[in-house]
Amino acid sequence: MGSVKPRSLREALEGVLRPQELAQIRAFDLVGDIAILRLPEELLGKKTLIGEAVLKVHSNVKTVLLQTSPVSGVYRTRGLEFVAGEPKTETIHRESGCLFRVDLAKSYFSPRLSFDRLRIAKLVREGEVVTNLFAGVGCYSIILARHSPASKIYSIDLNPEAYRYMCENVRLNRVGDKVIPILGDAREAVKGIEKADRVLMPLPEKAREFLDTALTALKPEGGVVHFYDFGREPDPFSPSLHFLKEKSGRRVELLGARKLRSYAPRCYHIVLDVAIS
Ligand SMILES: C[S@@+](CC[C@H](N)C(=O)[O-])C[C@H]1O[C@@H](n2cnc3c(N)ncnc32)[C@H](O)[C@@H]1O
Repeated sequence: MGSVKPRSLREALEGVLRPQELAQIRAFDLVGDIAILRLPEELLGKKTLIGEAVLKVHSNVKTVLLQTSPVSGVYRTRGLEFVAGEPKTETIHRESGCLFRVDLAKSYFSPRLSFDRLRIAKLVREGEVVTNLFAGVGCYSIILARHSPASKIYSIDLNPEAYRYMCENVRLNRVGDKVIPILGDAREAVKGIEKADRVLMPLPEKAREFLDTALTALKPEGGVVHFYDFGREPDPFSPSLHFLKEKSGRRVELLGARKLRSYAPRCYHIVLDVAIS
């Protein structure tokens, strides 16, 4: 008789980890066929055992990586260390009927924003011109191209590797008639493109710094801005809205506000949808 396949990671690690260690095992992010583990200091010595257990339980996972540092730097990349399976950092992720090729060591990618990408696609009206100031490997832009009636989506990123993958993803998803990848600093890039009905700013660490850039990108009569920021309980949205009203010097109407995910106790990555005129 062969050994029975464990049904969960916890089950696979029972008897391998002590109960108090087992209690510290958290869900991992799955990007394509790569699992990204985050482990507390005390479990780092057992990372290979844990990585091999992930491979045993999840037959769709081919590679297990350990995240060794938070997302950081201008390109918003994270430290990754190979743990088990095939040694690689590139994969193809499927989301909402689209394919995204990405090298996780070279550019940002988060599968956790899939809901927000489709949510924004549903807000776009027929023929809109959209500008994405921080497009990465093209996820928001390509989802909008496939799931919204936008006519054009200008997609800017400063990271040459993200830009290279964005161009490939535009081809892979056959959206070259709508998505226009641009390599460069959003501050400069927006000066050379047509004005937009809608501007996406999916970089909460810098959104406040780039409000002027978003206003330059927008049509003079105004449009919609998706402003990503950080917010704290008990009032996660008001400070961002106050900032937009005060700094834009324009009429700002709140259309919607959402918490996207928590990054610390009572602190959230948020998005405000605002009409600016
Ligand atoms: C948090 S990532 C978001 C990527 C993408 N929207 C997504 O959800 O996958 C932010 C991106 O902004 C890019 N970036 C940072 N500063 C920039 C700038 N000044 N101009 C254009 N892109 C910039 C980074 O290279 C990174 O790919």
